Amino acid sequence: MEKMEVYLDNGATTRPYPEVIKEMQRIMEEKYGNASSLHRFGSKAERIISSSRRTLAELFGSKDSEIIFTSGGTESNNLAIQGIARRYRRRGNHLITTALEHPSVLQSFQQLEEEGFEATYLLPDSTGAIDPQKIAEALTPHTVLVSIMHVNNEIGSIQPLARISSIIKKQNPGIFFHVDAVQSFGKFPLHPEELGIDALSISAHKFHGPKGIGALYLKEGVFLKPLFQGGGQEKGIRPGTENTPAVAGMALAARLCFDRQKDKIKQLRGFKEKLISSITAEHPQANLNGPQGEEGAPHILNISFPGLKGEVILHALEEHSIYVSTGSACHSGSQDPSHVLQAIGISDECLEGAVRISFSFLNTEKEIDYAAAKINSVISDLKKFQEARP
Ligand SMILES: Cc1ncc(COP(=O)(O)O)c(C=O)c1O
Repeated sequence: MEKMEVYLDNGATTRPYPEVIKEMQRIMEEKYGNASSLHRFGSKAERIISSSRRTLAELFGSKDSEIIFTSGGTESNNLAIQGIARRYRRRGNHLITTALEHPSVLQSFQQLEEEGFEATYLLPDSTGAIDPQKIAEALTPHTVLVSIMHVNNEIGSIQPLARISSIIKKQNPGIFFHVDAVQSFGKFPLHPEELGIDALSISAHKFHGPKGIGALYLKEGVFLKPLFQGGGQEKGIRPGTENTPAVAGMALAARLCFDRQKDKIKQLRGFKEKLISSITAEHPQANLNGPQGEEGAPHILNISFPGLKGEVILHALEEHSIYVSTGSACHSGSQDPSHVLQAIGISDECLEGAVRISFSFLNTEKEIDYAAAKINSVISDLKKFQEARP
């Protein structure tokens, strides 16, 4: 079998599209002005920022003024959650989220708890689904903000945003609804206004754009207390000189993903199903974590091999130039057991033996065939080694 390098850690980050790299280089070379400068160089940069804002607004079906550029998903989540909660504190001090969220959401909630807010953390069922009825029951007259992720980065569970927002808004239209859409933007059409969403976070490096750039959709009429103080950029909501090449790279990557979305999503689902059937046929004791079939995101597969360690599997696959992750690499370095897998209540053995395999629009059928064969042989070898141990 011809040797290949197969990158299957796209939940952590994706390879930038070549068109994105080229466009960013062009802007760095030719349009390096500061968008706030009054001369021609400044206006050229400003035009790039404006047209990129328009591109994102078109994809969201929103107004240009509702797009705020940030440094990525972590900042967008911090800004939306802390900013809205602090700004509207007089309306109430109760917040709702789930136990499945990214640390940038969970730690924003913890920060707000330290400031005197009260928080409810909803638990998912065994597939990672949050029952909208539980949200209805958690709402109180003091609830000011609900923050729920769209697609979970570790197990690919998808929350029903329209149902959740209608429950929240029926109870009280003044409660704000924030969505972490970092893992779903680019893969699914997302119209925040139609879905009743007030704030929504995205991050370019998850959809073949550059790292360190993201955006927050903030519905017209919703205000927040900024995290930074400084210049007046982004209407003072997020001051700091705009990263023009990265903003343009993000807008181009978003446009390319939306153009390719329909065909590519079908392909990703095919890749996921192919790997599942190949692995489970050879290793029937493998356990699939999270939702199955159409219920789950097409690009995230979380699978446990009881008796083995996820980290050992990861490094054994790396020897064959196949790159996956254990749990989540978004807050990596940490060897702690995944809070998401714990929240869905899998056994300790499955918790230890979990790997996340995540696909992107740039993976190919040939890569998946290669990865399936290598994963199967690596697992067989590790099991033999394990059994031979005294
Ligand atoms: C669901 C989710 N939210 C937020 C983030 C943070 O985004 P960023 O890496 O752009 O800070 C990530 C990944 O890192 C993620 O998967």
